[in-house]
Amino acid sequence: MRTLIAANWKMHGNLSWVQKPAEFRALFPANQAKGDKNIDMLLCPPAHMLEAMARASEGLDISIGTQNCHDQSSGAYTGELSADMVAETGANYVILGHSERRAIFGDTDDWVASKTSAAQKAGLTPIICVGESRAEREAGHAEEVVGSQIAGSIPMDADGDNLVIAYEPVWAIGTGLTPTIEDIAIIHDHVRGCLTTRFGAKTADKIQILYGGSVKPSNAKEILALKDVAGALIGGAGLDMESLAAIAAAV
Ligand code: PGA
Repeated sequence: MRTLIAANWKMHGNLSWVQKPAEFRALFPANQAKGDKNIDMLLCPPAHMLEAMARASEGLDISIGTQNCHDQSSGAYTGELSADMVAETGANYVILGHSERRAIFGDTDDWVASKTSAAQKAGLTPIICVGESRAEREAGHAEEVVGSQIAGSIPMDADGDNLVIAYEPVWAIGTGLTPTIEDIAIIHDHVRGCLTTRFGAKTADKIQILYGGSVKPSNAKEILALKDVAGALIGGAGLDMESLAAIAAAV
């Protein structure tokens, strides 16, 4: 399975960052002999940079994604972008249901499901984020919470051939904390099981399941070596091209 290394820039950066794809390629050349042909790179900048970044990434073999989209195609939704609008910028991925969207902006499983539907219809690949809170983990409910988010966030009409899942424990995001390697393996295995129930093994086995939450060069190798971990969704360390190249090199 290919490995997806995705940087979520959140609300960071300005138009001068459009040079970052080239910076990344200089640090991690596409033709590097290290089996990196199996690595897909994805940068998800704030929306005002999407079009310029998509143009700047052409020929560099780097995809561009956004961090959210609306589920309606148009209408009186002040401040929102539809999936078609995102696709018009040249972006081809969209992160949906990130825990910050769920906690701060009220994204529910239902809403993530309809956004996923809209994204796939617009030709975008949705990356659906799921993950338990600290309290849920401490209460021993991590698998149950993740399973229920997966069930609720994947729409009935979902195309399993154009879908990525990111397991991001809320308590690991931006904290420097990560679950143990065993715990990551357990949840990824559980997610694979949920996807198998939903889509059947043939399709489910091809869905990339990323890990996210405090991924950095020093822990990337161990995490990315896990059988069911097909990449990483990276916040803080993804703002720095040197760190991002080091994480990609750890694959
Ligand atoms: P982090 O963020 O790498 O800074 O923990 C991950 C994310 O929010 O996707």
